[in-house]
Amino acid sequence: MNKNIRTLIQALAENHSLTLDEYEALITARDQEAADLLAQLARTAREAVYGKEVYTRGLIEISNICKNDCLYCGIRGSNANCDRYRLTPEDILACCEEGYALDFRTFVLQGGEDGYFTDQVLCPLIREIKGRWPDCAVTLSLGERSRESYQRLFDAGADRYLLRHETADEAHYRSLHPPAMSFARRMECLRDLKEIGYQVGCGFMVGSPGQTPKTLAKDLKFIEEFQPDMCGIGPFIPHRDTPFRDCPPGDVALTCYLLSIIRLISPAILLPATTALGTIHPTGREMGVRAGANVVMPNLSPVAVRKKYALYDNKICTGEESAQCRGCLSARMESVGYSLVTHRGDIKKI
Ligand code: SAM
Ligand code: FES
Repeated sequence: MNKNIRTLIQALAENHSLTLDEYEALITARDQEAADLLAQLARTAREAVYGKEVYTRGLIEISNICKNDCLYCGIRGSNANCDRYRLTPEDILACCEEGYALDFRTFVLQGGEDGYFTDQVLCPLIREIKGRWPDCAVTLSLGERSRESYQRLFDAGADRYLLRHETADEAHYRSLHPPAMSFARRMECLRDLKEIGYQVGCGFMVGSPGQTPKTLAKDLKFIEEFQPDMCGIGPFIPHRDTPFRDCPPGDVALTCYLLSIIRLISPAILLPATTALGTIHPTGREMGVRAGANVVMPNLSPVAVRKKYALYDNKICTGEESAQCRGCLSARMESVGYSLVTHRGDIKKI
């Protein structure tokens, strides 16, 4: 690592900000020594806020039906090989019930943009979850909706919303999405969610086709400026039925490097070690936590549908029961000196 990069890393740890060019230089100059220094500073920053606690969220994949056609995504609307399913509100409540008994205090309802899940369906469901388990947070990850819809879901009790920005570079965004989707609309949704009062998560895939150090630098600058409460980053992994089937997957080391940088940009941010990270490397999630992540999201979906929520090939945790997933992740976190905790796991404001 040259002296300049060491200076940049120290400046980032102190000021939580770099210029676009500096972020790009930091990414381009990545080597083991720089990664180790970033990870060490990220762990210190994270532990100052959260100690050795790792937050958990129970992920319920409510539908793989989607009107969108994102080029990277295995459940994109045009994939005729995708075996479609949709959980009923009763199925979702049963998942929450099982999750509560397993000590989950956040339920993440994630799915494709499925027209069935109107506000009329979702609002009573959210109210029911919050009524039955008032000590739990509800996170939604259901894609782009109108501001009015986001407001109604918030008023029904939803606490958080995850909507990855996917890339902060408009031309790159266009290359990953069909013409019907737009960067401006994505950004508008994120702003709406924040203004309404949700705890908001953005994020991106590492190694998505067309990504460069320059586009990644823009992602980092966007995170610095938008100040999300959460940021989901994980490696891109190709899916056999998508136009990106032959593209190489994202890299575990680069993902960890970026996790450390994001932790230093925003010391209190909620940063998951994602399932995709665990898919490309057997101990990817442990590596993510050691690089600065502080959240894991075990799967709470019914085992019968898990394989069908195939965003990418070879996804892990599709055969296990929910209790097994929780137990497995708990042991994995203990193995690197961290422990799962039983509470909602809201962001700590510092
Ligand atoms: N429909 C919602 C949305 O668009 O926000 C939520 C579901 S979407 C499948 C959740 C995330 O999965 C996306 O934001 C994307 O970053 C990630 N994803 C999709 N395809 C992927 C792939 N091939 N590899 C890694 N992550 C992928
Ligand atoms: Fe809709 Fe992936 S294209 S969830």
